[in-house]
Amino acid sequence: MSKPELQHCSITENGDGIVWLWLDVNGARANTLSTALIAEVEQALDYIESEQPRAVVIGSRKPGFIAGADVHELGDLDSIDQAEALIRRGQQLMDRIAALAGPTVARIQGHCLGGGLELALACRYRVADNEPSTRLGLPEVKLGIHPGFGGSARLPMIIGAPPALDLMLSGRTLDGRAARRMGLVDHAVSPWQIDEAARRLALSDPGPRRARGWRKLAGSAWARPVIRPFMERQLRAKVRREQYPAPYALLDLWARHGGDPLPRRLRAERESLVRLVEGDTASNLIRVFLLQDRLKDEARASRAAPADHVHVIGAGTMGGDIAAWLALNGCRVTLVDERNEAIASTLRRARELFERRLKKSAKVTAAMDRLIPDPRGRGAARADIVIEAIVEDLEAKRGLYAELEKVIGPEAVIATNTSSLPLEELASGLEQPGRLIGLHFFNPVAKMPLIEVVAGDSSTEDAIARGQALVAAIDKLPLRVRSAPGFLVNRILMPYMLKAARLYAEGESRERIDQAARHFGMPMGPLELADSVGLDVCLAAAETMTQSQEVEIPERFHQLVREGRLGRKSGHGFYEYHKGKPKRQGVRTDDATLRRMGQELVQPLIEEAERCRDEGIVADGDLVDAGAIFGTGFAPFTGGPLHYRESRSSERASEGDAVSSG
Ligand code: NAI
Repeated sequence: MSKPELQHCSITENGDGIVWLWLDVNGARANTLSTALIAEVEQALDYIESEQPRAVVIGSRKPGFIAGADVHELGDLDSIDQAEALIRRGQQLMDRIAALAGPTVARIQGHCLGGGLELALACRYRVADNEPSTRLGLPEVKLGIHPGFGGSARLPMIIGAPPALDLMLSGRTLDGRAARRMGLVDHAVSPWQIDEAARRLALSDPGPRRARGWRKLAGSAWARPVIRPFMERQLRAKVRREQYPAPYALLDLWARHGGDPLPRRLRAERESLVRLVEGDTASNLIRVFLLQDRLKDEARASRAAPADHVHVIGAGTMGGDIAAWLALNGCRVTLVDERNEAIASTLRRARELFERRLKKSAKVTAAMDRLIPDPRGRGAARADIVIEAIVEDLEAKRGLYAELEKVIGPEAVIATNTSSLPLEELASGLEQPGRLIGLHFFNPVAKMPLIEVVAGDSSTEDAIARGQALVAAIDKLPLRVRSAPGFLVNRILMPYMLKAARLYAEGESRERIDQAARHFGMPMGPLELADSVGLDVCLAAAETMTQSQEVEIPERFHQLVREGRLGRKSGHGFYEYHKGKPKRQGVRTDDATLRRMGQELVQPLIEEAERCRDEGIVADGDLVDAGAIFGTGFAPFTGGPLHYRESRSSERASEGDAVSSG
């Protein structure tokens, strides 16, 4: 048979009996296991099956192997039949690879995730390079699904059930060395050795890896019923089945079918995955993934040059952490504060962050070298962007900008981190008001994925685009918002926190209020959140935002601030704190009460989200949902507050139809 003409793959042979199949999806930055790629690998397999080479190596011509399924295609699936057909086709492809007569080797560099790792698991051997950019994992649970191309069955057979379940339930990824220690790959080598390592493995064919010892025993018929309840308890402490069914489905699959022959396990995997795809969580989490992609794409589309040098003014809670994050992500940063001890404290915090994230001392040193203490503020003159994070005081900020404009370059952008001051008032004294934008980071900077890019009335498109490009370059999600009190995120959070404060003032237990919010799926209760932000900060923000609205701030809130009970930082707030942790009292509450109170708490947030959409604070409703999920942690399984509101009203409408037709 002659070699097929392929667009997304190529086949090379060197005369030693090995066929090298190279994946390289045309016109894409990364390979994804789309139906187009599946179709071409099928054609390549027709050729390989007819030629019967001594061995096959599958690699990628791109920096990554396969980054997973094509999530856009998953989002476009119209029917369950289509989903079932796609899963069946993927399983058949992996079965064909596994059934090839000669040895097969996956040659892995870069991302090898989801369907990509399932393809590698269908090969007899796997070789990865040991660069930090190489990541292996099955993160499907993050999309509300689980592996469907044989991964849930093959992974436990190769590395044993406990590590396999841990990888699939957490969705975490491993580098080459960690994958080697776990037995997931046969060798982890330097990038320059990877071709030779793959070639040798293919020719020597020493026999595939299989789980042995306790790892094999843990999957046996007597061990599964013992291990399952233990793992289920751990799972229940993290997520609820009705909100996140995928990890529970994975556990069920293994407990019921872990001992079955492979074809039966594959059928069970397929059926279980189809049930998940039918449910709301999967489509909502796929929506969240696509929203995240949209924010990144919009920043990339701006095509503004990324900033080389950023000057940060103010090394307090926010400015210090912003400077450290910028340096961690490759920017050269100069940092000034009127207090030298604030700069010193930032350098200490930055080193801890770099050591945690970068591990290798040479990289930590390089990042520290990028973060330059600049007590005289000389860096401002050379900066592409100046980020201002000084105290929240209009006159102090305006005075600073007047001085700044005398020294910064004509093209330099000034970005303020203000939470509540109107950009129009801040810009009014500037000679070039168009250069002022907002870059509103959230606290804690290292953990929060979103940054609001605030466009004031006079901000130029160029300044906004440069702000967005900086946000994208430091691995955060930029959300363009219109300048208005509270922007988007604080504005929708405020009525939610005030509702909680009102319930508390009416005598409801604070523990029950916070528990109800978490029961709904929020990452933290509103009272704990207010305490950690600082009650004085919350009150000031609430007062600014409620000026134009008829929202009442409970007297109890004012009283707490008057008494100096400012939250975690003062050791008292809604809670009492011991060593930074709130002292909670146990309360027992039934599910129905928690559900009712959870709804009551998020209702004002949802209504405010609708107003933000109607007032055009962001471009459309999807972006309101994106801001709520990535900025407030709003229960991701719902797909965002507006999407949640819409699906609940259509649910109610169909219940109504059922009642009237019944
Ligand atoms: P902070 O009080 O911790 O830090 C402010 C720093 O600015 C201090 O170290 C102070 O010495 C320094 N500073 C004051 N005037 C200065 C000047 N003229 N030149 C140089 N340094 C000066 O305040 P924080 O919390 O970091 O807030 C900074 C800005 O970020 C404010 O606009 C605030 O609204 C905003 N923000 C705060 C958040 C938070 O959670 N704390 C969240 C998002 C925004």
